[in-house]
Amino acid sequence: MRSYSIALIPGDGIGIDVIKEGKKVLDTLCSLDGGIKMDYRTFDWGCEYYLKTGRMMSETGLDELKDVDSIYLGAVGYPGVPDHVSLWGLLLPIRRKFEQYINLRPVKLLRGIQSPLAGRTAEHLDFTVIRENNEGEYSSIGGRMYEGTEMDLAIQSAVFTKHGVERVLRYAYSMANKIGKPKRLTAATKSNGINHTMPFWDEYVRKINLEYPEVETEITHIDALAAFFVTKPDVFDVVVASNLFGDILTDLGAAIVGGMGIAPSANINPDRKFPSMFEPVHGSAPDIAGKGIANPTAAIWCAGMMLEHLGEHALANILMEALQQVLEEGRMVTPDLGGTATTVQFGEEVCGKIKRLG
Ligand code: NAD
Ligand code: IPM
Ligand code: MN
Repeated sequence: MRSYSIALIPGDGIGIDVIKEGKKVLDTLCSLDGGIKMDYRTFDWGCEYYLKTGRMMSETGLDELKDVDSIYLGAVGYPGVPDHVSLWGLLLPIRRKFEQYINLRPVKLLRGIQSPLAGRTAEHLDFTVIRENNEGEYSSIGGRMYEGTEMDLAIQSAVFTKHGVERVLRYAYSMANKIGKPKRLTAATKSNGINHTMPFWDEYVRKINLEYPEVETEITHIDALAAFFVTKPDVFDVVVASNLFGDILTDLGAAIVGGMGIAPSANINPDRKFPSMFEPVHGSAPDIAGKGIANPTAAIWCAGMMLEHLGEHALANILMEALQQVLEEGRMVTPDLGGTATTVQFGEEVCGKIKRLG
């Protein structure tokens, strides 16, 4: 029996709804396989927990998570708790403590989804953004001074280290080296305007490129790159970006392949010293929370990425096939995709397909 321990952190808002459907899909796959068992442990951490306890996760939270095989998370953050408090209290400490320095974010048009980019089909929209996930612009170094005076100011430092930059670049290059012909890597920069960290980043791109001479490299300014996502998305294979640039690019990436309800992400600790975490790119969507209409596609796709990470490739393939069949049929899709189905109906439809495929 292959057995995996999975920490479920549904979190806030629609995170709770979409993880429920993702778990249903996993349960359905396991019931068909027979030789696999998932041991779930659910954590009720998030903004409600914070309002009750003053903490986003239990004091020993990171310790409770450290030995699981994977973490499956919905979304963190909700009105009522300042976003920087909620995110620095739960999501960001997990990414950092568990050295999940790779954030893998596929930008891929699934079957059954129409891109808002005219004339663009699956052959044009299939690349991966590798987002640096542990340092960069997301640093707590800085502070506020002279508050309440005319000199009121805030400073936030960005931290780019040789260690942090080299490891994300090596990962991205090795991925570009494995896929595609020609082998292409695009590195996001802003070295024209940001004159310390970004020239540093570019320098390491050129250095690591020497280790992968077959990979054609473009270093592209983030502003131009954002436009190219829309005007020529077909030129990308692997895009590597700093933490903040990767964050912004991947909401845009989500938009060009059908919207926030679609895009998955995997926070990977490549060394496998710590658990990796799988979560949609989207947030808790307070504007639709409680309505039961969130699209669970991203969360279900994340479950597929988690299965891949666990080595369960056959199950991941069935999941992706079932998901795309539901999207292609279009009968049971959520309002963001033009349908009238609820989150639960969509999830159950995917489970039904899995049973037929299994
Ligand atoms: P959001 O991703 O929650 O929502 C942006 C827009 O996309 C909204 O209109 C929303 O309705 C729509 N959307 C998102 N997911 C959808 C889905 N599955 N189906 C259909 N529509 C969907 O971003 P936001 O509004 O900027 O953030 C809301 C909260 O979530 C904030 O507290 C933010 O900090 C947090 N957040 C958390 C994460 C995370 O935990 N990984 C990611 C992003 C934002
Ligand atoms: C994401 C989110 C987070 C990030 C926020 C909520 C801190 O936007 O996962 O894309 O910026 O990493
Ligand atoms: Mn984001």
